[in-house]
Amino acid sequence: MPDPRSVLITGSSKGIGRATALRLDREGFRVIAGVRNEQDGQSLQRQASDRLRSVLLDVADAESIEKALRAVRAVTNELAGLVNNAGIVVAGPLEAVPMDEIRHQFEINVFGALAVTRAFLPLLRQGAGRIVNVSSVNGRIVTPFVGPYSASKFALEALSDGLRLELRPWSISVSVIQPGATLSSIWSTSTDRALANAARYDEAATERYGGVVAAIERKGGQAPKRANPPEKVAEVIARALTARWPRTRYIVGRDARLGAILASLPDRFKDWVLARR
Ligand SMILES: NC(=O)c1ccc[n+]([C@@H]2O[C@H](COP(=O)([O-])OP(=O)(O)OC[C@H]3O[C@@H](n4cnc5c(N)ncnc54)[C@H](OP(=O)(O)O)[C@@H]3O)[C@@H](O)[C@H]2O)c1
Repeated sequence: MPDPRSVLITGSSKGIGRATALRLDREGFRVIAGVRNEQDGQSLQRQASDRLRSVLLDVADAESIEKALRAVRAVTNELAGLVNNAGIVVAGPLEAVPMDEIRHQFEINVFGALAVTRAFLPLLRQGAGRIVNVSSVNGRIVTPFVGPYSASKFALEALSDGLRLELRPWSISVSVIQPGATLSSIWSTSTDRALANAARYDEAATERYGGVVAAIERKGGQAPKRANPPEKVAEVIARALTARWPRTRYIVGRDARLGAILASLPDRFKDWVLARR
């Protein structure tokens, strides 16, 4: 039997990353699932075939990336795919969110994805592999009070375009996934984070943006009713990894398609539509 093709996925403990790990495992890949603690790895392994391995990988920690590279090399020297999925949401007014939190947003969603890509490129070259970056509809359109997150996803989109162009000589394709609202715990964790950050706003910002914070609190970290299951995004990621001609961008979900249309409209009109929402 030929060796299974290996794929590394970051942020596999839950949500889209977990669904993708299980989906690719079922499709016969050897999944190397990046997680941040042993228990999450074990829980994933219990649901998957014995091909699936987990590896400790914190994308914001250079030493962790280095260790993960060594651990992956012990299993394989070739990757058929790298899915940069790990991500967090930092939400709140751009005027008020603490700067260290905005940096942290970029540390994970942008620099983390690039650092992991750079580290694993030799294995991707060896395996004629593909890169799939999980962006968001927020990488196409900015809505109020998710500026830090949107900025990070716009940056990830730019990195993806740059990598796609620069890696052409090695036929390493780079695809971007742009999901709309998807059911996962990111909604509650980002709400908790937004409220914790709001407690650090200065007095003027607390007064100015009290209504925004109250609205975030009222929503209580619930995903929108029409949010898609993470398996739907996993299916598209699998397509990007296996299609004969992978697309450069995949939009997932009706809300994301509407967002993409809105993004193409003139700025002032777009602002008017968003302000009415
Ligand atoms: N859910 C949505 O509506 C939606 C929509 C569009 C795009 N996305 C994108 O989809 C991706 C996955 O999100 P999700 O909804 O599945 O969220 P999630 O359920 O919160 O999962 C996020 C994953 O990222 C991991 N992670 C966080 N910080 C990390 C770090 N420093 N190093 C390594 N892993 C880290 C988490 O690990 P721990 O469990 O250890 O924290 C977890 O495995 C993100 O890039 C997100 O921006 C989500």
